[in-house]
Amino acid sequence: MLARGLPSRSVFLRGCQASLSTAQEGLGHPGVPTREGVGMATRSPRPYHEIPSPGDNGWLNLYHFWREKGTHRVHYRHVQNFQKYGPIYREKLGNVESVYIMDPEDVALLFKSEGPSPERFLIPPWVAYHEYYRRPVGVLLKKAQAWKRDRVALNQEVMAPDAIKNFVPLLEAVSQDFVRMLHGRVQQGVFSGDISDDLFRFAFESITNIMFGERLGMLEETVDPEAQRFIDAVYQMFHTSVPMLSLPPSLFRLFRTRTWRDHVAAWDVIFTNADKYTQSFYWDLRQKQDLGGSYRGILYSLLGTSKLSFEDIKANVTEMLAGGVDTTSMTLQWHLYEMGRCPRVQEMLRAEVLAARRQAQGDMTAMLQSVPLLKASIKETLRLHPISVTLQRYLVNDLVLQDYMIPAKTLVQVANYAMGREPSFFANPEKFDPTRWLDKDKNATHFRSLGFGWGVRQCLGRRIAEVEMSIFLIHMLENFRIESQQLSDVGTKFNLILMPEKPHHLNLPASPSGHAPRVMGGEGPAPPVRGVTAVGSSLAPPRSSSPLCPFLALIRTINGRTARRVFLPLEPLGCLSPSTEASGAQAPT
Ligand code: HEM
Repeated sequence: MLARGLPSRSVFLRGCQASLSTAQEGLGHPGVPTREGVGMATRSPRPYHEIPSPGDNGWLNLYHFWREKGTHRVHYRHVQNFQKYGPIYREKLGNVESVYIMDPEDVALLFKSEGPSPERFLIPPWVAYHEYYRRPVGVLLKKAQAWKRDRVALNQEVMAPDAIKNFVPLLEAVSQDFVRMLHGRVQQGVFSGDISDDLFRFAFESITNIMFGERLGMLEETVDPEAQRFIDAVYQMFHTSVPMLSLPPSLFRLFRTRTWRDHVAAWDVIFTNADKYTQSFYWDLRQKQDLGGSYRGILYSLLGTSKLSFEDIKANVTEMLAGGVDTTSMTLQWHLYEMGRCPRVQEMLRAEVLAARRQAQGDMTAMLQSVPLLKASIKETLRLHPISVTLQRYLVNDLVLQDYMIPAKTLVQVANYAMGREPSFFANPEKFDPTRWLDKDKNATHFRSLGFGWGVRQCLGRRIAEVEMSIFLIHMLENFRIESQQLSDVGTKFNLILMPEKPHHLNLPASPSGHAPRVMGGEGPAPPVRGVTAVGSSLAPPRSSSPLCPFLALIRTINGRTARRVFLPLEPLGCLSPSTEASGAQAPT
């Protein structure tokens, strides 16, 4: 096998050291000077077409890709391709051509040259759906100035530290309920099973609580079927995107394939429900007389700032709701799995959390400042199990990477998954070791933590997700010892986002030794654990939540109750009439 240009520690090169004389030249292409060398060299970089590649026939490549069952295994394929071609290669699949990189130094060059409005690969079926059904788009699919305007306004409400601190009590209440729900399931001191569905509900409850400042009740015994449909639709939307990544979605539409129909149905549910929630919130708000002083959620803040039109707000709320379910729930699932497999790490995390609790005297905002290892463990989880297996950018200008000239507008993909598993960049890459992120030597972490992307176009929900996951883990660590039933590797499946190939089964013996369960926040100890209820049969009494009923406010209004205007919307009131509800309104401009 021709293993080009990877350093000798690379896992790909073990066993073929004899052929590695060129590896001494550094990460570059064999025979190509190292980066320092490049700086001094007088000759020009190599041309684009010399970048190693399986061939320029995209359709033939696609045929091989399918034959090798690559559709749900793209991340493994990236690893193999780097093994075959070295630290840079290009691949054309169908009519999409990309350059793949994974060396953090190259990643740094790429991101530092990305310009003020970076663009990533737009998922073709998403674009097709939005265009065909004239759905409004938010930051996810917007470009250039339109993207920037939305993004700047949204950053203030979801990324700024001042905004984030408002989320803490809302997210903490959801985590407390989650833990209380699990306690309710503990039978004779242990619960066993797959909690992925609970994690989806937890994530949806979290994102809706901070979005609308109200609880949906997803952690209660019976849940709103429409909310469950939303959760299922998000999963379906991701899943059905995959087959349409390398073939034009219009073909799928033309032949009315099952994939296209399911994809459309999933987006329809997402839009309809998000629209109902938003409209309901708005109508409800208009009728409220007492706004009180407390934080009322992201939507309320967005409506109050006058920076985005109601249509843009709705589009972005839809995207945030859709973006806030599978991402955090999957990451948490992986985190629990890794902690279950590494009791030593789990104990270190628990010790940190307990010390932080003592030090902060229960103040969660203060606690979040005192758990560096916990935060590092989230980075570590995303290193091994990134939600997004690549990050993508279209080059704004020509760029030289690994001494190849890559022309402007080329799609460059950072292979996040492959990088995370590469021993040249991470010692013992298979080991779940959060301490690696606390290394004082910044070179060890330079451009390696990419789970949320990078720069101005990084994940909009990053801060929400970090706080949500940290609080969740704090509560889990305080309440349960987490044991994994699978000691061998659980494989992963590319479903647009990376998911476990089979369900994780966890054991959750109650309360770690020496620590009383904390599930009631300031309300005292949790209900007794031993010998309580059967799995899923009895949950804790409902919390103070008043589940947001999407229809209630509208019905009340239709029934003739006077709407009292409590703040000025950005759009004329006509745009909020029930008749336009869930219409998807204007096409993207
Ligand atoms: C563990 C949780 C999450 C992970 C790992 C994650 C990961 C990512 C990644 C890798 C990107 C692309 C970034 C780039 O290209 O540089 C992204 C974008 C995005 N994410 Fe997340 N995400 C998570 C949670 C969330 C949540 C909770 C929300 C909801 C608020 C969200 C909403 C978005 C949106 C709207 C974008 C597009 C941003 C833009 O284009 O300006 N994500 N996410």
